[in-house]
Amino acid sequence: GGTIRKMELEQSLKQYSEQLEEMVKERTRELEEAQDKLVRSERLAAVGELASGVGHELRNPLNVIKSCIYLLNMTLADKADEETISTLKLLDQQVDISNKIVTDLLTFTRVRPPSLGQVDFHNLIRESLSWVRVPEGIEVVTNFDGQSPKVLVDAEQIGRALANIVSNALQAMDGKGVLRVNTGIDEGYAWVKFEDTGCGIPEENLDKIFEPLFTTKPKGIGLGLAITKRLVEQNNGVIEVTSQVGKGTTFAVKLPLCKEEAN
Ligand SMILES: Nc1ncnc2c1ncn2[C@@H]1O[C@H](COP(=O)(O)OP(=O)(O)OP(=O)(O)O)[C@@H](O)[C@H]1O
Ligand SMILES: [Mg+2]
Repeated sequence: GGTIRKMELEQSLKQYSEQLEEMVKERTRELEEAQDKLVRSERLAAVGELASGVGHELRNPLNVIKSCIYLLNMTLADKADEETISTLKLLDQQVDISNKIVTDLLTFTRVRPPSLGQVDFHNLIRESLSWVRVPEGIEVVTNFDGQSPKVLVDAEQIGRALANIVSNALQAMDGKGVLRVNTGIDEGYAWVKFEDTGCGIPEENLDKIFEPLFTTKPKGIGLGLAITKRLVEQNNGVIEVTSQVGKGTTFAVKLPLCKEEAN
């Protein structure tokens, strides 16, 4: 009896240690995730504080420069030569770009709570597409499924989020390609997919692209998708990405349908 008893004990000990190992693994994974989240949120907070300070300080001088350019244009009127005019134009454009950066930084740090309302889904997508200038070599193909549903979101915030996705897609295609925009409905959700034929995203970057300040562009600041993700999530939506380097990238956004539609 002693040998059998010993074998039984060994057996259950082995089982127990395997179980323990599994539990430790599970806990480690949870800890790692929690730490990841913490690092990200601390980084967000730090970026936020710095950004709102700097952004705010830059607003006024930028506005003064903008007014000065306007004044110069007025006083010079038709007296100026072509080079002066084009230099002023360049100056004005650069001020606009700087203003956009400041606005991005400020929106990022002060995202107001969404004011949810019934929004026509297809119109919302069309509108956000119209905010972005499409280069000549790029074709935008929309394929909206059936009748437009109503979604329960903040139209301005989601419009902005979608426009960010579109502008990234256009930038990834570098002047040539196709952007397909499809929509559909799934249990309680309306979804829209933006599928580009751009450069794609390497696998190791896929979970970094939503972090603030992650960019691979020489002139990017890396706030577009961080803002987008935050806006989508605080509107009870979900954003997902799939990509293949050299082939293209698809961003999907799911948004809650209005109650009447979901039934
Ligand atoms: N459609 C896409 N195709 C390929 N890469 C993409 C796409 N969308 C995003 N990315 C990658 O994700 C990074 C982060 O995007 P994000 O919009 O946050 O910042 P950005 O476009 O670089 O700068 P900005 O702050 O001006 O938006 C990009 O630099 C790019 O590497
Ligand atoms: Mg961007």
